[in-house]
Amino acid sequence: MRTFAFVCLLLGFVGVATPRRHRVAQTDRLPVTLYYEALCPYCMEFVTTQLSPSMVRLDRLPYTDLKLIPFGNAQSDAAGNVTCQHGLQECELNAWHACILEHHEIAESLKLIACMMRGKKNRLDKCADRYRIDVADVKNCRQTRQVNDILQKYGEETAKVSFLGVPAIALDNIYDADLSANLTDHFDSFFCAAYKEKFQKKLDKCE
Ligand SMILES: *[C@@H]1O[C@H](CO)[C@@H](O)[C@H](O)[C@H]1NC(C)=O
Ligand SMILES: *[C@@H]1O[C@H](CO)[C@@H](O)[C@H](O)[C@H]1NC(C)=O
Repeated sequence: MRTFAFVCLLLGFVGVATPRRHRVAQTDRLPVTLYYEALCPYCMEFVTTQLSPSMVRLDRLPYTDLKLIPFGNAQSDAAGNVTCQHGLQECELNAWHACILEHHEIAESLKLIACMMRGKKNRLDKCADRYRIDVADVKNCRQTRQVNDILQKYGEETAKVSFLGVPAIALDNIYDADLSANLTDHFDSFFCAAYKEKFQKKLDKCE
């Protein structure tokens, strides 16, 4: 009885407190975390041909809690100096990605980052134009801060996981090398299978 009253109270409160546009049914979201770096060819291929098509074209994003961690195999020393696998240019691009992620929600961030990963130069302006996204805040972030500072939190996230190489993909907050390899080559079908297993629900356009 008491639980019931509490739930009613809570629902009443949520009903009052939540603006109308937020009152859509909450979907179950499967956490996906991608550890990657800007210039690694397999990362570029994975993001542009697997992750982005699945999230955007097949509309998995609303069913995912997607996190991008642009640090990859970089190393951070005791003084906080970051050294990237593909050199300074990579640290620089990773920092641009990090600034995008800090200032835009994940749907816009993924669009910009996937677009940037179609090339090795900094394509931010071109990509921002293509999707008509204002990136002044991103530029301000990059221009007012040091790369080491921008990348620090991603270094800390990365240090919690021991992966074998990038791209490395954790599903439901667990990194498993075999599953990560499967996801790298066939992202959507393994995502679908994991989603179904966890939530007992088959998403649209899943086999
Ligand atoms: C960190 O990097 C800066 C700039 O490259 C350099 O001057 C400094 O000596 C480095 N610090 C350490 C502890 O490596
Ligand atoms: C990876 O895929 C192979 C081939 O489909 C399968 O046999 C294996 O069980 C998969 N491993 C994981 C952890 O999903």
